[in-house]
Order: sequence, then structure tokens, then C-alpha cells
Amino acid sequence: MDEEAQARVDVWKYAYGFDTMRVVKCVIELGLPDVLENHGSPMTLSQLSSAVGCPETSLYRILRFLTHNGIFKKLGNSTEDPASVSYAQTPLSRLLTRDNMGPFVLLQAGPPGQQFGMSAKDLKAGKGSGLEAAPSEDIIWMGDVDAAYDKLFQEFLACHARASTKAIIDYCPEAFQGIGCLVDVGGHEGTAVGMLVKAFPWIKGINFDRPEVVAEAPPIDGIEHVGGNMFESVPKADAVMLMWILHDWSDSMCIDILKKCKEAVPPETGKVIIVEAVIDEEGGDEHTGAHLALDMTIMAATVNGKERTAKEWGQLLDAAGFSRHTIKHMKAIESVIEAYP
Ligand SMILES: C[S@@+](CC[C@H](N)C(=O)[O-])C[C@H]1O[C@@H](n2cnc3c(N)ncnc32)[C@H](O)[C@@H]1O
Repeated sequence: MDEEAQARVDVWKYAYGFDTMRVVKCVIELGLPDVLENHGSPMTLSQLSSAVGCPETSLYRILRFLTHNGIFKKLGNSTEDPASVSYAQTPLSRLLTRDNMGPFVLLQAGPPGQQFGMSAKDLKAGKGSGLEAAPSEDIIWMGDVDAAYDKLFQEFLACHARASTKAIIDYCPEAFQGIGCLVDVGGHEGTAVGMLVKAFPWIKGINFDRPEVVAEAPPIDGIEHVGGNMFESVPKADAVMLMWILHDWSDSMCIDILKKCKEAVPPETGKVIIVEAVIDEEGGDEHTGAHLALDMTIMAATVNGKERTAKEWGQLLDAAGFSRHTIKHMKAIESVIEAYP
């Protein structure tokens, strides 16, 4: 594998470095290292959840991320006997108690209230647990952002689209053979579908996003911008692409989106191409660290979004009525899931 492709994977470690700090800060605030230290022996998820007052589902995601990074240790085998799983201190987590280095790390993480989207208070209130009320509209937590931050966020989306689409073109060109018309649902300003049409010139592209987003999108050769709401209907095409969309939403909202995408493609020949992370919880692979850090970002930045395992993707696609799907991994943090009606 060439150095450039490896660098495209490694850069996520720096991009998500801040998430490690943010999550470590939350667990110190929750008092998790102190609870384990005072208990004196490993504790189950349910014991930890009641001790720190944070729902099990979100605490599971946080511990999955932290154990991967050597902060806390997971004991037992979750596949063979989930009830046997418990969590223990490591030399690193022992340093994070309040009477050790905990206050030092808290201070370095910045004053309370200045951490984007996630604090111990948020977690105790149910953040990341899927238990919060369904949001009415926007799911991205942007807080009180100014125009400069908003501009940076738009640039971040374009930068993501460029990096991921380059990987798709390099590692998954076969997914685009035989597609006459492709609609990119939630395609923002059309960066991804514009690159795909250039690489695979037999495709006519539609960039579909909220009306206010496509109104600002620049004209792109071979691309029609269409405004609308993916929860109501999706433009008809041979194939639909959903890149970095579903991880923003709860399972039930993903199923609604997927059903609309399925309706938009021909039942015999159509497909939905999902470009998202696929977490490997068991063995772990070279991308697992970035996937789990991304899960923490999504937990902080959305109401009910999450990164998913292959099993969870299969459950969503089954529930939305797809007959089969394949998953292709790339040298990138996303994989390509092709789902057939
Ligand atoms: C995280 S961005 C992903 C952008 C792009 N696909 C990428 O991978 O970089 C999510 C996109 O979904 C769009 N979106 C959110 N709600 C939508 C809706 N109800 N209908 C259509 N698009 C929507 C947003 O405007 C935004 O452009």
C-alpha cells in the first residue's frame, strides 16, 4: 500500500486527538476511575452505570473507546458470555483519580462549559444513550457558533467529501459500473458526486440536500442540484449514495431514510451505496481506533447518532427491507456497503 494511502488513514489519529482528551475529561468528571479504585476489584457495566449515574448504552460506547486506548481494561468475552464482562483499572486509569492526576487533566482540558457537546452532566442526562426524545429537525449540535466557526464546518464537510470520495474512486470503482444516474443524498454542495461523475463519466449525477444547502451550492458540470427532505422522498435514480449521513441518526430514523432510498431505485437493478465506518469490536483492525474516536465525536455532536458494527448495519438494512448487502473495506476510515432492494 502506498505511503499516501497510509497517511490518509493516519491523519485521523490527529484529527480525533481532541476526542480522547474530551472523553477522558468526562470520565474523570463522572468519577469512574475513583469508583473502580474504591471498589477494589473489576466491576460490570451495570454496576458502573449505577455508580456514576450514566445510562449503560452510552457508558458502553465510552468504555469501548477507552479500553481500546489502554485506559481501563475489559475482562471476559462479550461474544461467548456477555454477562461475564467486567472492567478494571489500568496503570493509566489509576492515575486519573481525583487524588492523583485527575485535576491536572481536567484543568488542561479547559474551563467547564467550553467543551464541545459533551460533559459528565450531559452523559448523566442521557446523551449518547438513545434515550433522548426524538429531535424535531437539526441533529447536529452546533452550540452557539459564530460565522467563522460555521464557515470552518462547511470547509470540514468539503474536506471530508474530497478525502472519502478519492478513496472510493481508488478502491471501489466497480460499485459505479452500469449506473446511469446516481443521486447523492445529503451530498451537501455536491463535492462527492462531482468527483464521481468526473471519474466515471457515464454517470449523470444528482446532488440532493436540504433546499437551503443546495441554494448555496456552486454549479458543477454534469450535476443537477435538487433540494428536498430525505424523510419525505428521494429523487429517482439507478443508485442512491448515502455518505456520512446515517451515523447522524437513530436506528428508527435511519430505517425511515433507507426505506425512502429503496423506493427511489429500481427494485430489480437498483442499489443503495452507503459510505460509513464499520466498527470491528472483536479483533479490531487498523481503523478501529479512528472508528471509536469518530463514535465519540458523533456522540458529542448529534442527538442520537452513532457509529455501527457490521452486525448493526445488517440489522438496519434488514429492518428497512433490503434483501442482501455486501461490505467492502477500503484503506480509509469508511467502508462501502452496497444494499440491494
Ligand atoms: C454530515 S453531512 C454529510 C455531507 C456529505 N455527504 C459528506 O460525506 O461529506 C450531512 C448532510 O445531510 C444533509 N441533510 C440533513 N438533513 C437532511 C434532510 N432531511 N434531507 C436532505 N439532506 C439532509 C445536511 O444538510 C448535510 O449536508
